[in-house]
Amino acid sequence: MSGGQKMSHTVSFEQAASRVMVALDYDGTAEAQRLIEQLEGIPCYMKVGMQLFYAGGPSFIRELKERGYSVFLDVKMHDIPNTVKGGANSIAKLGVDMFNVHAAGGKKMMQAAIEGVEAARAADPSLPRPVIIAVTQLTSTNNEVMNEEIGIPGTVEETVVRYAKLTQEAGLDGVVASPHEVKSIKAACGDSFRTVTPGIRPKGAPLQDQSRVMTPAEAMRHGTDYIVVGRPITEAEDPRAALLSIIEELM
Ligand code: C5P
Repeated sequence: MSGGQKMSHTVSFEQAASRVMVALDYDGTAEAQRLIEQLEGIPCYMKVGMQLFYAGGPSFIRELKERGYSVFLDVKMHDIPNTVKGGANSIAKLGVDMFNVHAAGGKKMMQAAIEGVEAARAADPSLPRPVIIAVTQLTSTNNEVMNEEIGIPGTVEETVVRYAKLTQEAGLDGVVASPHEVKSIKAACGDSFRTVTPGIRPKGAPLQDQSRVMTPAEAMRHGTDYIVVGRPITEAEDPRAALLSIIEELM
C-alpha cells in the first residue's frame, strides 16, 4: 500500500508490515544476518545504509532479495549527473525496490538517476523499476546550521517543501522526511508523492539522538507511506516482539 492511504483496522498484517522499514545499521553482515534470522517470516522492508552496504556489498543485497525482502538502499547519492547516472545504473542491476539521492544535487542530477535506472532496464527488462526518492534537508540540520553554515535562507520546513517540489518536477517518486513534515509535503506535492519517515519512536522508547519524533501510529495518521525504525528494533531485548508490536500498532 502507498500513496498516503490512511491505515485503518481493515489493514492486514502483511500490508502493515510492508510499510515498516527496519534500518539495518550494522558494521558487518554477521550481526545483520542474526537480526534477519530473528525476524524471519515477517514481511517488512529492509533498509541498508552506507555503513552496511560499504561493508557487505552487493552480495548482501542479493541475499536479502533471495530471502524475499523489499530492500531500500539508502546511499543518498550526491555527485555530478553523469556519476549519479552510473551509480543508479549499478543500483538498478541489484534489483533493489527503492534507493535515494540528495535533492540538493539539483534537478538534472535527480533526472540522471532515472536515466541510469532506465538504461539498466533497457538492457535487462526483467529488472524492476525501483522507487527513487530524494533526501530533502537532513533532519540533523537545524535552522541555524542551514542558514549559517550551508547558506540556505528561510526555515527548514520551507526548504523541505521546496526540495520536495523540485524532486517531483524531476520525476522522482517521493522524499525522505521527518514525520512532522509529511502534511506540508503532501499538500504541496499530492497524496501519491511518497514519504519515507525516520524519527519514529514507539511510546516509551528512548529517543537516543532523534529529537522531533512520532510514534508509528502518529506518523501513519499524518499520512506517511513508510516508517523507518532502527534502534527501537535492533537494540530491543526481543527484536521480533518489538517489530511485531509496531506492526500491530498500525493495524
Ligand atoms: O535508530 P533509528 O530509528 O534512529 O534509525 C533511523 C534510521 O533512519 C537510521 O538509519 C538513520 O540513518 C536514518 N535517517 C534518519 N534521519 C534522516 C535520514 C535517515 O534518522 N533524516
